[in-house]
Amino acid sequence: MCGIFAYLNYCVPRTRKEIFELLVKGLVRLEYRGYDSAGIAVDGDKKTEMDKNNNQKIVLIKKKGKVKALDEELYKKDGMDLQAELGTHFGIAHTRWATHGEPSAVNSHPQRSDKNNEFVVIHNGIITNYKELKKYLNSKGYEFESETDTEVIPKLIKYVYDNRERDDLSFSTLVERVIQQLEGAFALVFKSCNYPGEAVATRRGSPLLIGVRSEYESAEHIPIQYNSASNYFVLRGCANIPAVTAGHRATEPIVRINDDVQEKNSHNWPEENTMAVNSGEGKAVEYYFASDASAIIEHTNKVLYLEDDDIAAVVDGALSIHRLNRLAGEDPVRAIQTLQMELQEIMKGNFEAFMQKEIFEQPESVYNTMRGRICFDTNKVVLGGLKDHLKEVKRCRRLIMIGCGTSFHAAVATRQILEELTELPVMVELASDFLDRNTPVFRDDVCFYISQSGETADTLMALRYCKERGALTVGITNTVGSSISRDTDCGVHINAGPEIGVASTKAYTSQFVALIMFGLMMSEDRISLQARRLEIINGLKTLPDMIKKVLTLDKNIKSIADELYKQKSLLVMGRGFNYATCLEGALKIKEITYMHSEGILAGELKHGPLALIDKDMPVIMIIMKDACYTKCQNALQQVTARSGRPIILCCQDDPELVKNAYKTIELPQTVDCLQGILSVIPLQLMSFHLAVLRGYDVDCPRNLAKSVTVE
Ligand code: F6R
Repeated sequence: MCGIFAYLNYCVPRTRKEIFELLVKGLVRLEYRGYDSAGIAVDGDKKTEMDKNNNQKIVLIKKKGKVKALDEELYKKDGMDLQAELGTHFGIAHTRWATHGEPSAVNSHPQRSDKNNEFVVIHNGIITNYKELKKYLNSKGYEFESETDTEVIPKLIKYVYDNRERDDLSFSTLVERVIQQLEGAFALVFKSCNYPGEAVATRRGSPLLIGVRSEYESAEHIPIQYNSASNYFVLRGCANIPAVTAGHRATEPIVRINDDVQEKNSHNWPEENTMAVNSGEGKAVEYYFASDASAIIEHTNKVLYLEDDDIAAVVDGALSIHRLNRLAGEDPVRAIQTLQMELQEIMKGNFEAFMQKEIFEQPESVYNTMRGRICFDTNKVVLGGLKDHLKEVKRCRRLIMIGCGTSFHAAVATRQILEELTELPVMVELASDFLDRNTPVFRDDVCFYISQSGETADTLMALRYCKERGALTVGITNTVGSSISRDTDCGVHINAGPEIGVASTKAYTSQFVALIMFGLMMSEDRISLQARRLEIINGLKTLPDMIKKVLTLDKNIKSIADELYKQKSLLVMGRGFNYATCLEGALKIKEITYMHSEGILAGELKHGPLALIDKDMPVIMIIMKDACYTKCQNALQQVTARSGRPIILCCQDDPELVKNAYKTIELPQTVDCLQGILSVIPLQLMSFHLAVLRGYDVDCPRNLAKSVTVE
């Protein structure tokens, strides 16, 4: 899993130094996706670096470590005139999280075709048939230098190029031939000195989008024009063009591009498979290719999300998109969308880390999840992306909630209340295990895919598995345009805003709220459930303020962390509505502090975990005033009877508990099924402080990455 960033300027003069800075900035934004090594490829200096065709050679600069290390390396390269002005140039960059081959400069990307760097490529994903391809290419005399699966790609394109039947074969046709041979998941961007100033990008199963900044962008009214001379649809920027679809899918797709255009360039593509979305015409234009919008938003808010098997090519400043293997009846629509996120939303502000910022954003992010969806006057809840499918959902046999890690915990957290409000059986499933078991799925099942990124490979595979079996599929994601939001039948965007910290925090509480809203929507016409609904809706109304109160406990939590940070282990215990908090709290602690931590169901205490308890084992117990209160008190007795010294997360004004606790963290009380939203926040804060005290980089935990796009 990795971050891809590439930049092409056409008729926009940029110095080489500016290009370096742009590429590095893009990588910094994507560093959360992987940070064990990084690299870039740019055109070399004309004076020093020419290939056999008198084209500028490509220079590769790669470095083990974080982007900062690469940044320093860039300026050490001899013979690079940093002030040289490049009117049109294409540079590619990559930040890596190792899957095949250890972190090292040679294994980092761009990977290359040969020692002359004729073709270079950056890749996010995994090529599952790389061994077969490597064997074949070896037999043709191609020598490999890295241990990566990716290296077969530049070698393969060179092989196709060397064996081309015509000299004028286009770059994109070469790429098309290459991806026909690839199995697995990929987002790829190619650069070649044989095609100076041209870019080709493609994807299958891994995300890739293209930002477009043109000199038309500021025009007040920008129409789409059909240019009959070139037979291209000419995109004159994209403001003021009405939306054509709504709801769960892309929020603002504004251009429906007719694919019935003629291909006039040197491509070999069949006409009916090609769309063109920007004119060359010698007009200044800049393109940004990236794994996600956070690397693009500071340059332009106009983006186009590529679909699986799209091949995008920029030739003479014109971007065109071609469909590989278009199916009969398929009606491709590509839209330039206007991103709503602001740069400041993805910046750290005054916080030490993105994770900390995101914890403190929760009053707002949770509010944004509810905004426009709950009417507190009429107690009506409407999730626009689901309403057309509600009848179908109500008729279903069962609900299956599928996710990984934190997103799975959101399902665990809401299972009980969803069973109560929907009166349906609710299964909660870890995507990987669900697939390992070949779980039976039926046409009358409704399957939910909960995923912050919307790109998690296991969750996506579970989605495809259920689709094949005819179930209705519902996405719960935080990423507009992500694979899950596109591939599901309907769904809900949680609207938590971009989450950059690798450890998920605000996405969890927003997923939690979104699932509760789903339960409320399902139960609207159940008379027997009205009192319960009203209680929950009132609870949701005050939730942002309650979260603010919990956040004021930060100092108290930090002082407890001061006592705990040298410990090896930390147990988190609870039951009922707060069991998910134990799992989620323990996950946060282990992933960023590297302490051993376990979430324990208090009901299971006597069946094993009690053996761990003594005066030295740190234990956090969650004991809220709900139906499990007495049972949790029993667990507390068992812990204190073994000289345990519990830190208790409890409701305010509970003197009985305070008496038995080593320390307490007292929370405002809300409705039982919402209490987990409040109880998880102290554990998010605790993990943050423990990690800082232990000296770790909170936003970049070792061995982890934000978006897990490999199995
Ligand atoms: C933990 C964490 C991970 C993710 C998991 C699924 O803090 O972030 O456990 O929750 O990798 O990711 P998404 O939600 O993007 O599918």
